[in-house]
Order: sequence, then structure tokens, then C-alpha cells
Amino acid sequence: MEPRERLIVPLDVSTLAEAERLVTDLTQHAGLFKVGLQLFHSEGPEVIEMVKRLSGAPFYDSKFLDIPNTVAGAAAAVTRLGLKMFNVHAMGGKAMMAAAREAAECTAAAMGLPRPLVLGVTVVTSMDENTLLEECGVGRPLEDQVLHLASMAQQAGLDGVVASALETPAIKEECGDSFIVVCPGIRPIGTSEDDQARTVTPRLAREAGADYIVVGRPITSADDPAKAAQRIVEELGNV
Ligand code: C5P
Repeated sequence: MEPRERLIVPLDVSTLAEAERLVTDLTQHAGLFKVGLQLFHSEGPEVIEMVKRLSGAPFYDSKFLDIPNTVAGAAAAVTRLGLKMFNVHAMGGKAMMAAAREAAECTAAAMGLPRPLVLGVTVVTSMDENTLLEECGVGRPLEDQVLHLASMAQQAGLDGVVASALETPAIKEECGDSFIVVCPGIRPIGTSEDDQARTVTPRLAREAGADYIVVGRPITSADDPAKAAQRIVEELGNV
């Protein structure tokens, strides 16, 4: 995979116009665009069409978590939009994850579309071990919890997980090299952490085995987003 293909830029804006500007400015420097909850709930499926038109099938960061039947219905619906990948919370359990994967597979086959990759979200990178214990009641050490969820996701037939680069070497060891790891919480040296708690530089994330890195504000809030993205791709290329 080319270094550029490994860079995912989240479109964390509220309007189609702002998202379109980001995609136009960055399409040469990023492999994938991520449509998240803010944009999808502001503009709806039209944003997926816009990204497909300007850059190719996007990653919909859907973060589904519900009963298996409901998630299957949602997975089928988003598969019809034509995505490269979408995700569900691994905390939703194995049956829910398997239902999402099966719905994506059946729907894509029925429509003659490539099946989107289905990923499990492990522990969001804004959360640390204290929050996990005190607010979520999870007593396991954070890395063990991430590994546990990754292993459940693999058993449910998912293609990979979203996790911090800090846990990526352990995930690859446990689940194998072909199990995809998408890493948010990436911060080039000298940029703000913002609300992320477990951050890693692009270079270290790649060295840790990240297949894709998600880099938002260090690019989208930069004076020159294209140049910021280009620097990150260069950093990935040097690994
Ligand atoms: O701006 P920043 O680089 O922090 O953006 C990270 C993106 O990755 C956001 O869109 C956020 O929703 C997403 N994300 C995350 N942690 C996860 C899963 C997704 O930060 N575990």
C-alpha cells in the first residue's frame, strides 16, 4: 500500500460545503475520507455521494451499538450507500458484530457491490484507564480490554478494529498481521493533543503496525491543510 493510502482524514464539520472543500483540497494527499457522526447527522447520505464523486468510497464512522437485529438493518442500509468501510462498537458483543458483518455481506452481494470492510471500535482514544474503570466499570487494564474486544471482533468475522497505536503491536500479535488496525489519536510532533488522551506520532503508529491512521485536527486546523497532510504522508513513507 502507498503511504498516502494509509492516511484517513475525518470530515469533522457540519456542512456539505465545508466537507466538499476539505475533500477537494486534500484528495491528492489522503487515501480515504471518514464521515463521522457530526457530518452524517447534519447532511445525511448526500455526503457519502459527494465523497464518492470527488475521491472514492469513504469510511463511515457509524459506531453502531444496538441489538443484533437493529444493527443488521443499519449495516445493510449503510452498505447500500457504497462504502469502503464502516464500524460497530465491539462492546455490542459478538452476536451484534456477526450480524453486522453478515448484513454487509448479503447486501453487497445482492447489489453487486464490493463488501465494505467492517471494523470493531475497541476503546476510544480519548479514554484512559481511569475513565474505563470509574465511569464504565471495566476493571481490566486498558490494553487487556482492547485485546479482549479485538479478539471478540475477530471471532465475529470482522475485518479489523479501531484502536490506539499503543495497543496495535499486541493486537497484531494476538490476531495476526492481516487483521486490520485503524488508529486514531495520531499527533505529529509539535501539534496539540486536543481531547485525545492516548496519542502517537504518525511514524510510531506505522512502526507499531497501524494499517491506517486517522488524522483530523492536525490537518484540518492547520494553516495549510494540504501541506500538513503531505508532511504526514512523507513521515509514513520514511518508515
Ligand atoms: O481531530 P482528531 O485527529 O482527534 O480526530 C480523530 C477522529 O477519529 C475523530 O473523527 C474521532 O471521532 C475518531 N475516532 C477516535 N477514536 C476512536 C474512534 C474514532 O478519535 N477510537
